[in-house]
Amino acid sequence: MDFVPNIEVAKNCVRLDKFSPYSPAYVITNEDLRQSMQFVPKNCNRALVTAASGDHPLFCSLYGARQVDTFDISYNAKCIMDIKTAALKCMGHVAYIELLKNLRLCQNIQHVPDMEYISKMIPKIEWEYMCSMAGSQIFSNGIVIKDDNTHLVNYKEYKKLQKIVKGRYNFIMSDIANLSGHLTGTYDFIHLSNILDYRHTISARLYTIFPLLKHVKVGGRIVCYNLVGLNWEDVHPIEHFEELVEDLNEKIKCFDKTDEWLLKERKHEIAKAEKMCDSDFENFDYTKIGDMVIFERLR
Ligand SMILES: C[S@@+](CC[C@H](N)C(=O)[O-])C[C@H]1O[C@@H](n2cnc3c(N)ncnc32)[C@H](O)[C@@H]1O
Repeated sequence: MDFVPNIEVAKNCVRLDKFSPYSPAYVITNEDLRQSMQFVPKNCNRALVTAASGDHPLFCSLYGARQVDTFDISYNAKCIMDIKTAALKCMGHVAYIELLKNLRLCQNIQHVPDMEYISKMIPKIEWEYMCSMAGSQIFSNGIVIKDDNTHLVNYKEYKKLQKIVKGRYNFIMSDIANLSGHLTGTYDFIHLSNILDYRHTISARLYTIFPLLKHVKVGGRIVCYNLVGLNWEDVHPIEHFEELVEDLNEKIKCFDKTDEWLLKERKHEIAKAEKMCDSDFENFDYTKIGDMVIFERLR
């Protein structure tokens, strides 16, 4: 069932410090999507990407994916994405960039030039939500846009997008932790933006990715971008978990065995890591390239 925004809740939840169902969206990406979207496989029929600022699905289409589904924890990501696909249908490149600049810090969507017209191509419930959020900067995440920002879609890319993007992208409103439960079938390409930057251990990142592995076709890829914080390991996930199990088994030897609760916790941790040593990860190649890690299904 489609997500229905709750305005009362939303008005108290537009905060920049935490990603949530109403956290402000980015207006443009801060990633090098021209680099990461090169990993969209040839003949990519189906891709799944973070909705983010809407740039992830747009660049994914540019790099050849036929069908692109999107997901995000924030409803505002869907809003900016739908504004962008609607804008493609009715405005030129210069007006598009101007629109993004105006949206970045707008207090009231109805005051943004051209939005009245674009609103006719956006679902009514979404437009009503955006209007009700007057006073909250729902698109205020990320940097202020300057014309020379290389992450902006350029004129040539914009023209191509106008030809190839046929309508709105499917949107799944979900935390990445529960995403797998919303998915049906498999994908050739999954792009997780830098969401995993906010998981503070490699194990936590890998546990988050694990349920998504079954949704990747043979030859398909998952790309994760690294922008801030902890870097990815050089070792393959299987090796990571083997080392972790060894480490945890060593540590447990020194434990105070009278602390039953802690002992139970540690045993649970070991069992969870052991499961990963023998998991679907073994069917994936793992590569670190620049700011990205790529998981590719081999069999
Ligand atoms: C991590 S943010 C960072 C911006 C990103 N680098 C870009 O270029 O747009 C990207 C998107 O991930 C979404 N997000 C963050 N945490 C999430 C989570 N746990 N599950 C699903 N989406 C999440 C945010 O709402 C945001 O739209």
